[in-house]
Amino acid sequence: MKIALLGFGVVGRGVYEITRERSDMQVTKVLCLEDISLPDAQAVKNIRDILEDDSIDTVVEAMGGLHPAYEFVRAAMEAGKNVVSSNKALVCTYYRELLPLAQKMGVGFRSTAAVGGGIGWLSELERARRVQTLRQVGGIMNGTCNYILDNMTRLGKDYTEALKQAQALGYAEANPTTDVEGIDTWHKIILSSNIAFGISLDFDSVPVAGISRILAEDIRRFAAHGRVCKLLGIGKRTEDGFSVYVQPALVGQDQLEANVPMNYNLITFVGDISDRMSFYGQGAGRYPTAYNVVQDLVDVAAGKGFYAPYGVGTKADNTETLSWYVRGGWDGQISEDWDGAVITGKVSVADMHAWLKTHSDAFAASVQE
Ligand code: HSE
Repeated sequence: MKIALLGFGVVGRGVYEITRERSDMQVTKVLCLEDISLPDAQAVKNIRDILEDDSIDTVVEAMGGLHPAYEFVRAAMEAGKNVVSSNKALVCTYYRELLPLAQKMGVGFRSTAAVGGGIGWLSELERARRVQTLRQVGGIMNGTCNYILDNMTRLGKDYTEALKQAQALGYAEANPTTDVEGIDTWHKIILSSNIAFGISLDFDSVPVAGISRILAEDIRRFAAHGRVCKLLGIGKRTEDGFSVYVQPALVGQDQLEANVPMNYNLITFVGDISDRMSFYGQGAGRYPTAYNVVQDLVDVAAGKGFYAPYGVGTKADNTETLSWYVRGGWDGQISEDWDGAVITGKVSVADMHAWLKTHSDAFAASVQE
């Protein structure tokens, strides 16, 4: 396998280093705007040098961002090259364009590192859906948010200090708003749900609430009631359709999710044969992420395509009702008073997300049963 790398940042360098140790694959060209010199690969600045090179059969996209990554990946597929990408925003946003194109061109297309970094989550979903109906997917899918919430909960740090540390440790995206407002988790749960349920979700139907409004006083109330707050991405098959959303959630202190430390991820599927299966590990970082890119390269070399067939466009309905912790301005039904905050009666996911949009000082977290 002859590979061209698009991007030579954290992930690209890791892929280059790992493939150098292997005899079955070789990086021969690297697209990089900076001047770099590599002993056994040519650095190029123009994508044409890769697209027009017939010796290259596979492109690894590790640039990040949507543009020009999308145009480059599209052109690579049109040139008949396999594509492996670690870019969740790209694969999620252009799912409806890239999946049919890969199928039409008969090229391999894998993106295991895009969700869960080093966890083989998407490739496990691929295996899981072959033999059973998946009922639910999701969990803790963003290391930065877990790092912040864990530091606030266990070490009493404040939000700003914990976010700065997550940035310094390289967990956060270039723009950390993407992490803390839940957008990174949103991309990951949409992609996971599409694969698990064989659908293509309308983005607008998947609501997202992040953790940026959380305060130390919220964390103290959760602890007093035996709860821990985590940012969860959830995708569920319901009677009539699908419930898919991203939001802070209160889990019991003895639950697996409550005990996920630092920047780790914990992602779970529930299948009608296997029941609950959880996957825990490093959701980011050079070598864990590059590890899964190389796993994808091995799979592509073995002739594997995407994880699931392309499914029809679907809207999440989110009529599922939950109880919620709310601090700030709730005037609906109340089931418990938590001294400065409340636990609501049952409110649908769609209604609570709509309410949060018009109450910019409020913080809400679902109470997991
Ligand atoms: N910023 C992401 C995270 C990186 O914190 O999980 C991996 O997608």
